[in-house]
Amino acid sequence: EPSPDERQFDDLIAADSRIEPRDWMPDAYRKTLVRQISQHAHSEIIGMQPEANWITRAPSLKRKAILMAKVQDEAGHGLYLYSAAQTLGTPRDEMTEALIAGKARYSSIFNYPTPTWADMGAIGWLVDGAAICNQVPLCRASYGPYGRAMVRICKEESFHQRQGFEILLELMRGTDAQRAMAQDAVDRWYWPALQMFGPPDDASPNSAQSMAWNIKRFSNDELRQRFVSMLVPQAEVLGVTLPDPKLRLDEETGQYEMSEIDWTEFNEVLAGRGPMNAQRLQRRRDAHEDGAWVREAAAEYARKQAAAREV
Ligand code: 3HC
Repeated sequence: EPSPDERQFDDLIAADSRIEPRDWMPDAYRKTLVRQISQHAHSEIIGMQPEANWITRAPSLKRKAILMAKVQDEAGHGLYLYSAAQTLGTPRDEMTEALIAGKARYSSIFNYPTPTWADMGAIGWLVDGAAICNQVPLCRASYGPYGRAMVRICKEESFHQRQGFEILLELMRGTDAQRAMAQDAVDRWYWPALQMFGPPDDASPNSAQSMAWNIKRFSNDELRQRFVSMLVPQAEVLGVTLPDPKLRLDEETGQYEMSEIDWTEFNEVLAGRGPMNAQRLQRRRDAHEDGAWVREAAAEYARKQAAAREV
């Protein structure tokens, strides 16, 4: 017989209502939210690195200013999401320590290098494009603080995607070398971007429960399909080729047929053996150490303020 608390929680979920921090919730609901929201936050913070690589080398002041604004946005998204996770009772330090110790997941996509300027376009168009497909439904996640954080993040993500598309469009209207650089970046980022949506539905252990709790609104494969159907017409406008010779729309089903995704590569990246995993974590550790003096100074200042109030 469910307890009154369980009944209230089940009624809120059945009515597709919001669960707020002060509401009773099953431990497993709390746990999966901390898992997903902290991972999402880690992804935003680590995701600053691939793009930061080009801030000092942007081809114009305009591009430099836009890229700086985007990287700052990602930092802000990370802080919103850590704050949302904290409402579930997990301290910020605990999440940071887990990431620093290499014990926390973050999105596979940020473990790839950014060797050319065109990568800034491919990341904006493909990675932020995929993030939008994944994040818009999360605005309706049953957990209030998470859904509300997503609303603000999605507004900024749309700008990120547009500026990436525009970088590629400018390159594709440039010299042959610029066109080749843009196509090369699309070739390198297309498949990792598809993997952002997670494993296939039949290999997705969290999906069923996440969907039952109105956290995940669409399955991994559904969102992957939605993303590809958004990309195809945009690739035509850009004049780039999506690197999948088997990609074709099945008129009957409205679904895109595509080549097999390399899940071995995906699992290698998740195991920490991707092209840039070590560098991304080392950079995050260095930033944590370099920033220790700021945390100590702020804590000392807060202590002195508290002491002054006591006298
Ligand atoms: N990278 C790393 N780990 C991944 C992953 C990916 N791309 N896709 C799946 N996984 C992990 C899951 O975390 C899970 O492992 P865990 O149980 O140890 O956490 C395992 O693989 C199985 O996957 P499931 O499908 O069962 O897991 P989920 O139901 O959690 O679905 C998800 C995965 C779709 C990524 C979901 O967690 C999600 O929607 N997360 C929030 C969105 C997010 O994190 N997006 C990252 C994009 S980065 C970003 O938004 C920055 C932007 O500004 C560019």
